[in-house]
Amino acid sequence: MQSVSISFSSFCLFQDSIFVARFPFGQCARSISMSKASSNTKVKARETSGASDEFYVGLRRLEKSLPKSMYFDPAQYDRELKAVWYKEWNYVCRSEAIDRGSFRRHTIGDQNILIVRDAQGDLHAYHNTCRHRGSSLCTEQEGKFHTGSIVCPYHGWTYALDGKLSGVPGLSMPSDFDKASFSLFPVAVSVWRGFVFINLDATAVPNFEPFGARVASLANWPLEDLRLGYSFSEKIACNWKIFWENSSECYHCPGVHPELAQLVPMVGRGILDKRQDPNWQENQHKPHPRFQGGIAEGVMTYSMNGQTKASPFPGLTEEDLHTGIGLRTNWPSLIIAANIDVVRTIRVRPLGAEETEVSVEYFFSEENLANPEFDRESNIEFTRRVLEQDARICEINQEGLRSVEFESGVLMPSENYVLAFQEWVLSRLD
Ligand code: FES
Ligand SMILES: [Fe+2]
Repeated sequence: MQSVSISFSSFCLFQDSIFVARFPFGQCARSISMSKASSNTKVKARETSGASDEFYVGLRRLEKSLPKSMYFDPAQYDRELKAVWYKEWNYVCRSEAIDRGSFRRHTIGDQNILIVRDAQGDLHAYHNTCRHRGSSLCTEQEGKFHTGSIVCPYHGWTYALDGKLSGVPGLSMPSDFDKASFSLFPVAVSVWRGFVFINLDATAVPNFEPFGARVASLANWPLEDLRLGYSFSEKIACNWKIFWENSSECYHCPGVHPELAQLVPMVGRGILDKRQDPNWQENQHKPHPRFQGGIAEGVMTYSMNGQTKASPFPGLTEEDLHTGIGLRTNWPSLIIAANIDVVRTIRVRPLGAEETEVSVEYFFSEENLANPEFDRESNIEFTRRVLEQDARICEINQEGLRSVEFESGVLMPSENYVLAFQEWVLSRLD
């Protein structure tokens, strides 16, 4: 599992030096992986500026993007479900969203999973499949087990919330029938700072930490104490990789996100990391956020006017308030975006080769939720607008891939994190 940090943009990512270490110039790993991809496009290598600066993170030559078929071929989509989505930890929901004796259902590809909290408060996850003849157990997206058990709607096999088969209707039982052999199929579940993840891989290492040791940018936000204030979900007509690629560069930001560029000046320069600027060393002495990142002078948060009447989350430092945002991503399913008064989760879920669901939850402090002065609608309106802009441009990108003339695109210097994402996907497919 790779995770990346993000510096400032709602849906644009800053990814730190882990990729510099893995792929110093991007081209080595790509030249290996792209030899497996079919493409007639010839790309000439060329040097870009910044070539002698070891801390410059932009690409130093033109790179091929992935072949177009990877974005709409159903067989490729199935391969990615098995190699990526069924192997990695997937974000589901907040822990407090599942009460004792209740469940959530979560679908990844064609796999249907139940996340259940038992009477003792422990979370479990199971395949939503009866061991008798394979019926689904729960058909609702969420609910409560009123009898305290999971009862199959078909013939009534009954399971305790710890997954053990506890009841089997019938006038008689086969003499060699052993209930202990028919527990629900378990799925790995893990909770990190209030966020629930599942993993379909039976060999997944437990106690998942989505951002590992590199979680510093969210360390000061009180993630355990968040309260849900708003949520929405939308389907985007694009492959899931198109969404992540768009989220991995800010080359598109000046044209697609004019409002965001007002609040976050570096966005207006088409970069999301100051080290994507080949002249970043020369610009080091310039304190303006145009060069150093973070929100503009006088801006407090992501809202329509950049202001907020909310109290900042307790625990934030002067630097956090000044930078104005902390973000992390966890491929393939989660972005956590934190401002001084709101934390958003952006959950990604593939629905098909050319359809992706993005679900956004807005979390606030209890104090701010109760504060009538706090205009959280303004924050929601602003960030929804940015997401809508991203969603539409992703759909436009998807649509254009179908040209019979187009085989694969190319990556420009500031698209180094797109390359890193693509390398990550290809590494999973090996
Ligand atoms: S399929 Fe579940 S009880 Fe028969
Ligand atoms: Fe964007």
